[in-house]
Amino acid sequence: MEFFVDTADINEIKRINNMGILDGVTTNPSLVAKSNKNFKQLIKEICKVVNGPVSAEVTATKFEEMYKEGIKLSKIAKNVVVKVPLTVDGIITCKKLSKKNIGVNVTLCFSSNQAILAAKAGAKYISPFIGRLDDVGKNGVSLIEEIKKIYSNYKNFKTKILAASIRSTKHIEQVAIAGADVATVPPKLLEEMFKHPLTNKGLKMFLEDWKKTKQKIL
Ligand code: G3P
Repeated sequence: MEFFVDTADINEIKRINNMGILDGVTTNPSLVAKSNKNFKQLIKEICKVVNGPVSAEVTATKFEEMYKEGIKLSKIAKNVVVKVPLTVDGIITCKKLSKKNIGVNVTLCFSSNQAILAAKAGAKYISPFIGRLDDVGKNGVSLIEEIKKIYSNYKNFKTKILAASIRSTKHIEQVAIAGADVATVPPKLLEEMFKHPLTNKGLKMFLEDWKKTKQKIL
């Protein structure tokens, strides 16, 4: 399973990248707006820090412009993955960019039907938004399970499932069990994954006992 961090905060990206468990980054226009930075410069900077795929989202809504934006974004760095919304224009753009060997992440996926369309269009990633589905009383994790089942029925579907809109460590466990290829996780949640009260308690006991030995390793 791969871990992407879902943020446009370069300092957070650097910090998490130093942990050695980061495989990529996803951004979206809301996260970029929050960063208060120049979008293209920011993506360039992120791509220098992280070797893995970095999703940068188009903002046009019509195919012609979306495609041009996608080409422009893909030229920022080799590891840019162009993010397009799951609309008719987005799927056409996905198909055309994928044909040029540009990786595409199809975002705002809320149904298995939409995931089938993205796979048909050659998307590198499909991003089902599980938290936003939960928000409206649906089950986001079930969507990951459905897509996993559907994709595994067809050898020609090479699209990876990128579980997005993850809101809890429980979600991370659930999408991992469901077989998501990637989970994109907000920085705070990634840190939550490390925590367990028994780890703290156990470490405290080990260190107290070690002190009694009066030894040093270095
Ligand atoms: O990058 C897309 C995504 O993960 C959005 O998450 O929490 O805004 O629904 P959220």
